[in-house]
Amino acid sequence: MLRRLHPDQPESFAFTPANQAWAEAQITKYPEGRQASAIIPLLWRAQEQEGWLTRPAIEHVADMLGMAHIRALEVATFYFMFQLQPVGSVAHLQICGTTSCMICGAEDLVAVCKEKIAPKAHQLSADGKFSWEEVECLGACANAPMAQIGKDYYEDLTAEKLAWIIDEMAAGRVPTPGPQNGRYASEPAGGLTSLTAHEAGRDALNVSARLATDIGDTIKRIDGTEVPLLAPWGKQSGAVDVKPTPKKPVLAEAVPADKTGIDKREAPVQGTAKPEAGAPAAAAEVEEAEPERLDAPREGQAPDDLKRITGVGPKLEGLLHEMGFFHFDQIAAWTPAEVAWVDARLKCKGRIERDDWIGQARALAAKG
Ligand code: FES
Repeated sequence: MLRRLHPDQPESFAFTPANQAWAEAQITKYPEGRQASAIIPLLWRAQEQEGWLTRPAIEHVADMLGMAHIRALEVATFYFMFQLQPVGSVAHLQICGTTSCMICGAEDLVAVCKEKIAPKAHQLSADGKFSWEEVECLGACANAPMAQIGKDYYEDLTAEKLAWIIDEMAAGRVPTPGPQNGRYASEPAGGLTSLTAHEAGRDALNVSARLATDIGDTIKRIDGTEVPLLAPWGKQSGAVDVKPTPKKPVLAEAVPADKTGIDKREAPVQGTAKPEAGAPAAAAEVEEAEPERLDAPREGQAPDDLKRITGVGPKLEGLLHEMGFFHFDQIAAWTPAEVAWVDARLKCKGRIERDDWIGQARALAAKG
């Protein structure tokens, strides 16, 4: 397959400050003179940030590593995992078309993509939300046919199920990854015939699906909530500052996507951020105010399970606890200025409003 750079390229590329710190930490893994070995993780991070790999991003990474641009271009154009054109702002679907999946119905899945997304692979859907491609075996052959969507696998698919998943994602919901036909993992479709004792007491989801659900970042782009970004050899970057800081104006959520389908939610949100030309909505300034915080859950009460709020995973729950938020009613009471205060420190960039944490917390608090 011929892999070329997309004809429409942005002017420039820069890592977000957290990603820049992460990339610099990656480079320190390698001995002096071997920095080029960090090429793949850095290109991958650039793609995670932008959704696809732009020429300025490839050249920026090459410059960081002291490589000739052509060397980085060789890597980016060789590996299929690098997307050289804009992908859907919500999700890019990778349909496995290799033997097991083809025998079990991959062609039906491709037909769904052609009908619901775009007639050709790597084309954006009319609303810019989705794109798709056919890929080689993704190693889940026992659960054929399957697709990788974002970071997770959706297995044991049918055409109807895939169409439903696309509709759900278009509506802002993320179906649980893993087998979609009721199977726990890759046991016989008729149920276990041996080792049946393992059935008792197991979780409703297998370990992979459980982890994917807990992390909750299936189709999420990097948005700064992945802190702390730890380098395994001891460097740490991106720690959340939970100490009170002087009030400063912040910008509310930036534009989610432009006409190329490029997700712009990673645009800087403090101080100097400027909306894209032609953006449908201008960002509004909101004054920060520090909400009331607690040192610990209220006496005699366990902390509420904040993960029940859609958009809050284990990491964010831990950060909320560190910041002094343990109960649904605390979150339910946040004013817009207090949301801005929390947003700036969680580096959520509008997620609180986007996922309606306040409304969800109100409902959960009302249920007791
Ligand atoms: S053939 Fe599809 S995952 Fe292996």
